[in-house]
Amino acid sequence: MKDNVKVGLLGLGTVGTGVVKMIQNHQEQLVHQVGCPVSIKKVLVKNPDKVRDVELDSSLLTTDPYEVINDPDIDVIVEVIGGIEETRKYIIDALNLKKQVVTANKDLIALHGSELQKVAAENGCDLLYEASVAGGVPIIKGLADGLASDKIQKIMGIVNGTTNYILTKMTKDGLSYETALKDAQDLGFAEADPTSDVEGLDAARKMAILARLAFSMEIELDDVSVSGISSVSKDDLKYGSMLGYTMKLIGYANQEDERAEVSVQPTFLENDHPLASVHDEYNAVYVYGEAVGETMFYGPGAGSLPTATSIVSDVLAVVKNMRLGVNGHSVLAPQFERQLKQADERFAKYFIRLHVRDEVGAFSELTKLFSTHSISFEKILQLPLEEEGLAEIVIVTHKASMENYQNVLSQVNDLNVVKAVESFYRVEGDGTK
Ligand code: HSE
Repeated sequence: MKDNVKVGLLGLGTVGTGVVKMIQNHQEQLVHQVGCPVSIKKVLVKNPDKVRDVELDSSLLTTDPYEVINDPDIDVIVEVIGGIEETRKYIIDALNLKKQVVTANKDLIALHGSELQKVAAENGCDLLYEASVAGGVPIIKGLADGLASDKIQKIMGIVNGTTNYILTKMTKDGLSYETALKDAQDLGFAEADPTSDVEGLDAARKMAILARLAFSMEIELDDVSVSGISSVSKDDLKYGSMLGYTMKLIGYANQEDERAEVSVQPTFLENDHPLASVHDEYNAVYVYGEAVGETMFYGPGAGSLPTATSIVSDVLAVVKNMRLGVNGHSVLAPQFERQLKQADERFAKYFIRLHVRDEVGAFSELTKLFSTHSISFEKILQLPLEEEGLAEIVIVTHKASMENYQNVLSQVNDLNVVKAVESFYRVEGDGTK
């Protein structure tokens, strides 16, 4: 039995600093959990002279990653530097040296998770990544352990705090997308280049990780269809609100008969859906299991100490496995072959907003097109527009196949009565459907 577990930390930015603080400030609790002290042995930094918001002996700092990775005293490598190719190499090298690895790197796990898990298992090591999805929310352990006995049918996640903050400001304060984005940037939620968040790529990486785990299938990042929130308008939210909906960027993953679909898209939720009340920068993951029914995991999706909580809990899990001699045994090979649903197997309700000429027969033209493609209307809203002779029409469909919906979208513009298709979104029910 070890009498002191040594951690090597790759990175001392916002999250790395949180990890050091947690290990320092919660030491008594860590000792109680694993039976010995847990301490930081070495830390990779870019600039050793930088003033930092944490007390750490400068002799622990190094600019050479291999001073951390090759240190024979170090048991656990914690990776919080981000990046993909170089970091992948560091992790593989660490695993081949029989180090346990904990990472917060969603990009790396989304792209190379399966490969890295194999290397970890071959070396009898753990590779844990709780912090890679939804920061401080224990959704990975929730799926891998808490719900392991169930068959997960559906996951819906608000897994990007930046876009949730922007959509909340647009909905509650009536801000435009541009103003809400600027507000998020001023508060430090959104990056100077917000593309990865607002176009849904960050959420797609997290959903690939969740779907892979929940459905026990090798879902790839490319399997996730993605659209972001940059073209959502105040008018969309206004008409959605009139119909009883709240807009969220939803990561959606569903599995039926061992066939899966995964997407990220702006989605209108019925106001009584549990995710509709998740506001500001908070994250939440709604999981529907065949036996358990509805569950929801909620909390901070980013931030120094919330993310560090997940990382240090992973370190504890690794150390408990070391005590039992079972590192590297927790990963199961996928149970199912990777099979994705085609467009005629994917069903949803849709919200379609049109500007239509307000004239005799206009509505029957629309009805004809939708009925030709077997799509029926659940809700209809029509209001006159300021521009003479035009009307705003919002249609919410009953559940339709994606194939039929795409056919309607590709043909609706050709109708003479339709001046413009303003927007279209997926709609999700109250959570029980
Ligand atoms: N950019 C991410 C977000 C941070 O806004 O949620 C956590 O991955």
